[in-house]
Amino acid sequence: MLGTLLLKPMQTKILYPDPEAYALASDLLNRGQLVAFPTETVYGLGANALDRNAVLSIFAAKGRPADNPLIVHIYDRAQLSDLCTVSPLARPLMDAFWPGPLTMLFIRKPAVPPEVTAGLPTVAIRMPSHPVAAEMLKTCGLPIAAPSANSSGRPSPTTTAHVLEDLNGKVPLILDGGACDVGLESTVLDLCHDQPTILRPGGVTKEMLESVLGREVLLAGSILRPLAENEVALSPGMRYKHYAPKGTVTLIEGPEERTVPLLRRLCLEQKQAGKKACVLCFTEHLGALSDCDPHDIGSVSSPDEIAHRLFDTLRRLDEEGMEIVFSEVIPPEGMGLAVMNRLGRAAAFRIIDA
Ligand code: TXA
Ligand code: MG
Repeated sequence: MLGTLLLKPMQTKILYPDPEAYALASDLLNRGQLVAFPTETVYGLGANALDRNAVLSIFAAKGRPADNPLIVHIYDRAQLSDLCTVSPLARPLMDAFWPGPLTMLFIRKPAVPPEVTAGLPTVAIRMPSHPVAAEMLKTCGLPIAAPSANSSGRPSPTTTAHVLEDLNGKVPLILDGGACDVGLESTVLDLCHDQPTILRPGGVTKEMLESVLGREVLLAGSILRPLAENEVALSPGMRYKHYAPKGTVTLIEGPEERTVPLLRRLCLEQKQAGKKACVLCFTEHLGALSDCDPHDIGSVSSPDEIAHRLFDTLRRLDEEGMEIVFSEVIPPEGMGLAVMNRLGRAAAFRIIDA
């Protein structure tokens, strides 16, 4: 009953952020409805975090499994005291990285409905730096639960067009803030256990966190490999197939004098067999792979650029009906770790060593 009610189709309005748009967004959010909005990482699908029915409608619109918890977005640290117990370790990290692409887990307070946290004792909190997100949060005055504004299982949206592809008719308003800067979702950091642990790598890197904390930050095991059977996911989102285009993606690693010829050979073999095949390659290798329908993932020397483009590239593969895709890889350091986490999962961790 609730499901059918929530999924009643509606017209999706797209507005450039101006005072009227913020007023409408605030009105919708305060009435328990959804608003899609830009952040510096990816677009979010927001609802009042304190209203369980509003939160349930996020899950319905995305087709998201109910056991995958949401991040709560705030614009002011004064909002924290109602939501969670903040660990002292978090203060210097807030000083250094908020507002920005860092999500931290804290012990949840009862005001946060269990629908937000999927029944977990912890709640994930983030203060986005995107001016449109900040203004929307301020105008509505609510903590906003927001996952990425994609259909569950698709790459996260980094433009309004991506949001519309997945959620047209399922959200009354999209605030259009152009393309997201970072392009990959925030770093999720667990501060509720003995050692600070990154559950999902993002724009705030392990190295950046360690330099502020002055101690080692661990990486959850499943960041660069699939979860083992029976292994408990520290972050429920890690259990789900994600970021995966419809075609089969395979990563090719090794020195470039070997990877580039191998990418070319594998791709041309598939093309000769009648498959729709292409390569994802660095800007520097576009020439050498020109007969392989090369898709430019960005310069080998710029992991930030690769991050910024990755989800758009993955979405385009589906539009083009690609069946077989071979991709270059970058070292999993700094922003490269976040890129390789997403690319690895897009490839179901299929990797060939050249
Ligand atoms: O950049 C971002 O974080 C974007 C923007 C919109 O803020 N949001 C986002 O949300 O990526 P979502 O729902 O797509 O991803 C949230 C991730 C999921 O992997 C989820 O399992 C994890 O955070 N998460 C949320 N709450 C958690 C908790 N209490 N414990 C462990 N993991 C949690
Ligand atoms: Mg997501």
